Amino acid sequence: AIEQTFSIIKPDATRRNLTGAINAVFEKAGLRIVAQKRVWMSRAHAKKFYEVHAARPFYSDLVDFMVSGPVVVQVLEGENAVAKNRELMGATNPANAEEGTIRKMFAESIEANSVHGSDSAENAAVEIAYFFAGTEIVG
Ligand code: CMP
Repeated sequence: AIEQTFSIIKPDATRRNLTGAINAVFEKAGLRIVAQKRVWMSRAHAKKFYEVHAARPFYSDLVDFMVSGPVVVQVLEGENAVAKNRELMGATNPANAEEGTIRKMFAESIEANSVHGSDSAENAAVEIAYFFAGTEIVG
């Protein structure tokens, strides 16, 4: 079915001017960018976004990284968008990511791994609503 997923192009990627290269991967695979904006997240906003990881040892470093520069937040729409985007991104750790995936091509480390994508349709809806008003999403 046609669905939406939430994506973040992370600070390591915006710093290296990779927004267009990453968007080209999405569009070539048939995902449509139906909302997009560049934001510099506040620490409070990043902490809340990653709240599910609050107990993890990497949490505070992850928050520091996510507020270290601008990010591009996006809504991607298409057939099986959640799973398709996860395939395009590749494994969280670029060392384990398959050839041709965004993280294999561009990620610097398990933390600075260039992109975030929702892991389920339910989480996608929550994450989209955390960054976008309904009127900003234009299919
Ligand atoms: P993301 O898909 O945005 O979800 C949580 C993020 O935490 C993940 O991508 C990585 O950037 C980061 N992360 C996950 N595991 C580790 C880890 N073991 N060490 C450091 N960062 C991690």
